[in-house]
Amino acid sequence: MNGKRLDRVSTGIKKIDEILEGGYPAGRSVLISGSAGTGKTIMGMHFANASVKQGIKTVYITTEEKPSDIVIQASLIGIELQKYIDNEMLQVLTIKELIDTSPQFFMDPHATPSTRLTLRDIPEIIPENYMNVVIDNIGIMTLDMELKKLRIQIDYLVEKLHDMNKTSVIICDDIANDITKKVASYSVYGGMQLVRKINPYSGLMERYLDIYKMRGTGVPEGPYKYIITGNGIQLLEGR
Ligand SMILES: Nc1ncnc2c1ncn2[C@@H]1O[C@H](COP(=O)(O)OP(=O)(O)O)[C@@H](O)[C@H]1O
Ligand SMILES: [Mg+2]
Repeated sequence: MNGKRLDRVSTGIKKIDEILEGGYPAGRSVLISGSAGTGKTIMGMHFANASVKQGIKTVYITTEEKPSDIVIQASLIGIELQKYIDNEMLQVLTIKELIDTSPQFFMDPHATPSTRLTLRDIPEIIPENYMNVVIDNIGIMTLDMELKKLRIQIDYLVEKLHDMNKTSVIICDDIANDITKKVASYSVYGGMQLVRKINPYSGLMERYLDIYKMRGTGVPEGPYKYIITGNGIQLLEGR
């Protein structure tokens, strides 16, 4: 035998599980980036859904939406999360309100917030026994930060999540990821980019998944074409 295989956790999308030798590497962090509307949140929902269905308690931390909106959006792609919230398999936490709380911050766009949640604080809010984690999205917490400090914070977050043995999907929007020179991608165990672009031959908009990094995994070179339907993200045959 040539070494051990990593344990895997389903991504919730069958074809991506096949490509990733079973799913996301257990106990590690994977970064999902992409511009608005590429399906980052949907990827997070698929993962959360697959996790709770397997009996793994999961926490979905959102910086953008209300928990009720996450539940409604998930139901529109055939993912029913409410019953898992009810039986405490799933917690959906909104940290929007906690990111900037000082009144001065709202009055003065240049003010530095006095009380604010940073990336370093995220591990603290993950309830014990909740082993799978979605953080959607870290962008707002990275935007105004000096690059070196940001790198240190992301390293800390990723290391801490690993120490806690959490399998984590960390989502970052492209604006923040580009402004921060994609610094987060260096800290994480794996990275996937969702892309929407026009096919120059057909003139049609197409979606692609690029798995640019996945340690310990022999990923066949993509990109992989996908569509979003009433059943969520679906990878198409071929590349
Ligand atoms: N039922 C559906 N049928 C087709 N496309 C859908 C459906 N639900 C959502 N989408 C697509 O998914 C996009 C939103 O995905 P989302 O994961 O919220 O994006 P983001 O990357 O911004 O988090 C929508 O803009 C739409 O294109
Ligand atoms: Mg989103």
